[in-house]
Amino acid sequence: MNKVVVANLKMNLNIEEISEYIKFAEKEFNDKKIIICPTSIYVPYFLKKGFSVGLQNVFHEDKGEFTGEVSPQQASLLGVKYVIIGHSERRRIILEDDEIIEKKVLSSIKNNLGVILCIGETLEEKNMLKTNRVLKRQIVNVLKHVEPEMLNNVVIAYEPLWAIGSGLIPENKDIEGIANYIKGIVLELTGYNDIKVLYGGSVNEKNIKDLSKIKNISGFLVGGASLDPKRIAKIVEEVKK
Ligand code: PGA
Repeated sequence: MNKVVVANLKMNLNIEEISEYIKFAEKEFNDKKIIICPTSIYVPYFLKKGFSVGLQNVFHEDKGEFTGEVSPQQASLLGVKYVIIGHSERRRIILEDDEIIEKKVLSSIKNNLGVILCIGETLEEKNMLKTNRVLKRQIVNVLKHVEPEMLNNVVIAYEPLWAIGSGLIPENKDIEGIANYIKGIVLELTGYNDIKVLYGGSVNEKNIKDLSKIKNISGFLVGGASLDPKRIAKIVEEVKK
């Protein structure tokens, strides 16, 4: 099965750079296997050109007095297909907790958005051998009220915080082991036995070949290396082989 690539552009690129990006991407990788998550104000530009588009965050209510927020319903009606929820930068900097992340996930599923739920441990937690415990807590707190069939719309992105933007990366066998662990937790919690797991954290055009050998993951969440369309094109090319 071909793996999927999610490009998380975060709060990067100005309008000129986005125009260049789209021009290049249209030729090189306008493909359903790549989901582009630009800063939200640029979403319509990508939609207009037929890209698969995801938001980097969403609110949990459908509409109302929530200045500055975007609802899953608004996104879905616009043609957005996916949303990243619970990214570590939102947990750490915006102080989102599992409770709000659960609300966002449930509301997004209700509105037919594909959810990319991010989980991961800090370096300190890893060193204290708490990785499994942390991942289990993040999964249970957020997915405890979902019905198994709702999980057709969810993938879990395993992103160790110490690997994000650091150039460090776990060994393939460790990613494989953790992906199995995540699948087991979801099965035990919900009875759903087909949850897809992505890996994210310092994925780039050089390490993608090796990472692609991991059998039990379904794709990659790419931050820094997705900002240059030439680099992400190389990643997509490798993943599609
Ligand atoms: P990175 O970011 O690829 O720059 O490590 C990944 C992410 O934050 O999703």
